[in-house]
Amino acid sequence: MKKNIQLILAAACFSTLFVACNHASSTKTGSDKDSTTAQAPQIPDSANFKATVQGKQVDLYTLKNKNGVTVAITNFGGRLVSLLVPNKDGKLTDVILGHDGLSGYQIKAETYFGAIIGRYGNRIGKGKFNLDGKSYQVDLNDKVNTLHGGFNGFYKQVFDAKKIGDQQLELTYVSKDGEGGYPGNLTAKITYTLTDDNALKIEYSATTDKATIVNLTNHAYFNLNGAGTPTITNDSLRIDADNITPVDSTLIPTGKYEKVKGTPFDFTSLKTIGADIDKTDDQLKNGKGYDHNFVLNKHDISQSIATVKSPETGIVMDIYTTEPGLQFYSGNFLTGLSDGKGKATYAHRSALCLETQHFPDSPNEPSFPSTVLKPGETYHTTTIYKFSVK
Ligand code: GLA
Repeated sequence: MKKNIQLILAAACFSTLFVACNHASSTKTGSDKDSTTAQAPQIPDSANFKATVQGKQVDLYTLKNKNGVTVAITNFGGRLVSLLVPNKDGKLTDVILGHDGLSGYQIKAETYFGAIIGRYGNRIGKGKFNLDGKSYQVDLNDKVNTLHGGFNGFYKQVFDAKKIGDQQLELTYVSKDGEGGYPGNLTAKITYTLTDDNALKIEYSATTDKATIVNLTNHAYFNLNGAGTPTITNDSLRIDADNITPVDSTLIPTGKYEKVKGTPFDFTSLKTIGADIDKTDDQLKNGKGYDHNFVLNKHDISQSIATVKSPETGIVMDIYTTEPGLQFYSGNFLTGLSDGKGKATYAHRSALCLETQHFPDSPNEPSFPSTVLKPGETYHTTTIYKFSVK
């Protein structure tokens, strides 16, 4: 017995030393410290995510491809927690903002970090819409409007998770008839697939038993310089869109299209995000920066509709989608949260979101592509975030 205890103690000491050594070797100090290699990023400890929420088991799932690209996803809100991709030095950079454990995601001041957004991505004016002659009122969680599915949107729900091999996670959630005010029992399935060409593919599907509206997206906050670095305003961005849907002061589309040419919204060729962000412009004023839906010129998944490039890490992200719109949000409401991964502080504009979607307030704008889903139909959209280095 005594011998056993001695053995256990020796093993514990050895593993502590091993962890300490490992940590020391991954932490560079002094002159060799630079932004891309300062500290090898880690996936949060899955123990910090294990809990029972709403009677369901929450966990952290990891996908990894042959190049070492690693994605961590929790089934709480279907959230992307970490995404480690190679930088120009061949080391990994974590390009997604998030928290080290589940409790970080259960805060009141919701940021939607990495979350699956449903039933309706972005805003619906006054939370009201008509469908088949009936009027519906959904949660008003964004002053006078509804945003991202309301107070208990998908970002707060626990999905059933099924890991398929090392590179795929299937998440399912059944949203009950009337949840958040939306009609119909909606069965939503989201599949995350990490491919060997360093792409993260997200497939969304849904069916309903009553006519309803659906607009699913993902709310990842990207910083290609590394999560926790101070700003994305020096990164460059291209969006293949000749028009935006301009908004009023509550960020509801006016129903018109507005040409981007000659405005701060022209990202038709690569432009530094900070180049025009502080210009005097009514739309920038309404969004407190960029927080707008771009009307994509093409959206047939075969061509990249947007590109982001980091001058620091050399990481390039290309987006492909079947969706007609892209919400470009420049992290204007980030205010210096200090409970980021590894105790990072997430400053104002230290990340951007590129949310592929149908247009905000579509249920009230007949000229926008429809978001109605009827029984017997299957909602299906695909978005790919692909990473490379330049
Ligand atoms: C979306 C909205 C923004 C903001 C963020 C979350 O992208 O368009 O206005 O609410 O979500 O803070």
